Amino acid sequence: MSKKEEKLKEMNRALKALIEPEGDWLANMANSSAILFEMMDDLNWAGFYIWKKDQLVLGPFQGKTACVRIDEDKGVCGTAYSQRKIMLVEDVQKFPGHIACDPDSRSEIVLPIIVGGEVIAVLDIDSPQKARFDELDRKYLKEFVDILVDETNFLQLMEKF
Ligand code: SME
Repeated sequence: MSKKEEKLKEMNRALKALIEPEGDWLANMANSSAILFEMMDDLNWAGFYIWKKDQLVLGPFQGKTACVRIDEDKGVCGTAYSQRKIMLVEDVQKFPGHIACDPDSRSEIVLPIIVGGEVIAVLDIDSPQKARFDELDRKYLKEFVDILVDETNFLQLMEKF
């Protein structure tokens, strides 16, 4: 197994250990963004946008201040939301409609968080390096999101918004 794969596996083990005893969605999202930012190299932003009524709204994150509201279909996050699929963007400057919160960002991966058939949030991870994310990242970040969903009481969040 490559060093990179070992690190990703270790990150997911750390996530499970950290959030398993806790179901609170805000606490678990906050700690998840911290784990990503600590354990993945070359990131400048990692965090969540939460679907509230008709827009994605900034949630827990690590990195510089970011834009607060994103409409469905807009940017990489809004596209991941409306298409309900993982968006892996090797060069954000070539992605039509990319929303540049931090001009340092060069590549990005966004994963929808689906609970009970609804996209309740997206996980957005940015890097200042072009093509920072690959298929291995996609696989383990998908697993990361699955662990977060399994271990968290997102029904409380869904009832709230
Ligand atoms: N780049 C994202 C916006 C969010 S920031 O990167 C934190 C997008 O295009 O949706």
